[in-house]
Amino acid sequence: MALIEVNKLVTEFHTRAGVIRALDQVSFSIERGRVLGIVGESGSGKSVTAFSLMNLLDAPGRIAAGDIIFRGEDLRQADAARWRELRGNRIAMVFQDPMMSLNPVMRIGAQLGETLALHQRLDRQQINQRVIAALRQVGIAAPEQRMRAYPHEMSGGMRQRVAIANAILNRPDLIIADEPTTALDVTIQAQILYQMKRLARDSGTAMMWITHDISLIKDLADDLCVMYAGRVVERGPVSEVLAQPLHPYTRGLLDALPHAGSRGSRLYAIPGAAPPLHALPAGCAFAPRCGRAEAACAAPPPVVRLGHREHRCFYPLIPVGTV
Ligand SMILES: Nc1ncnc2c1ncn2[C@@H]1O[C@H](COP(=O)(O)OP(=O)(O)O)[C@@H](O)[C@H]1O
Ligand code: SF4
Ligand SMILES: [Mg+2]
Repeated sequence: MALIEVNKLVTEFHTRAGVIRALDQVSFSIERGRVLGIVGESGSGKSVTAFSLMNLLDAPGRIAAGDIIFRGEDLRQADAARWRELRGNRIAMVFQDPMMSLNPVMRIGAQLGETLALHQRLDRQQINQRVIAALRQVGIAAPEQRMRAYPHEMSGGMRQRVAIANAILNRPDLIIADEPTTALDVTIQAQILYQMKRLARDSGTAMMWITHDISLIKDLADDLCVMYAGRVVERGPVSEVLAQPLHPYTRGLLDALPHAGSRGSRLYAIPGAAPPLHALPAGCAFAPRCGRAEAACAAPPPVVRLGHREHRCFYPLIPVGTV
């Protein structure tokens, strides 16, 4: 059984302008120790997916349909008390802005110790040891000294490492990371990704790693979900999806990546822009930008499964039967 299974999740925002369907029948699952990458342009519903899973949607957002099954438990039935037990303990989130999870007026050691004490019965010495171990695990040198610092005394990269240490402290089953390295330079980013991948391997922690950058996910993720306009348009093992994408949108994302020899020359860009969710085309949401669109695409494409891969397109790039 998968650690978490998300099945046909629909999340809506009820605004004065009407109902915005931010997630439309989103399905995926994550096994223990595996990393699921979620990619898509800005506005495709990546953060809404994370917030839906963490039960952190603010009004007017709400889950309208679908299931979230975590270790066999139906999370849509969980009440506030159950969520206090789950959040930070079994499921932890790392936000793009580390200050979303750090307290600016508390020393690092004290606040990480508090996270631990909230869910575990440990004495002061055990708490200190666990905090030091977590800081070391995210690559922070001299953690004993760092524990006495306040967040504002640290660089952005260091703060994000502390936020990640905070997330792994209670050895959660699942970490949801929403573009946590986007603001960091590439070297720090690579170090953090390397440490996260090791963590997943060593501890069995599953991860959902959100990014708008498909090149970042290549070495980190085992599986990939490509999102467009609130839908998962393609899903499968990361190596296969990147080597042989089925959906024209995935192909477009890959063609838009800089590659050797492209320096100085103009990069390919997918024509047009992602449609606003309140004005989606009736059929395939990608149709206005798609070079393969035909009359049939005016109807919504169904989810098609091909072995362990999946897509939502009438005319995928590789004909059925050859995958
Ligand atoms: N609070 C909100 N009220 C109304 N619509 C929202 C709200 N939050 C998100 N949305 C809608 O959901 C879409 C997806 O948002 P988001 O998940 O944040 O995108 P991203 O993929 O960049 O993380 C937005 O473009 C917007 O249409
Ligand atoms: S369903 Fe049609 S418009 Fe949509 S991605 Fe496939 S070919 Fe393009
Ligand atoms: Mg986002």
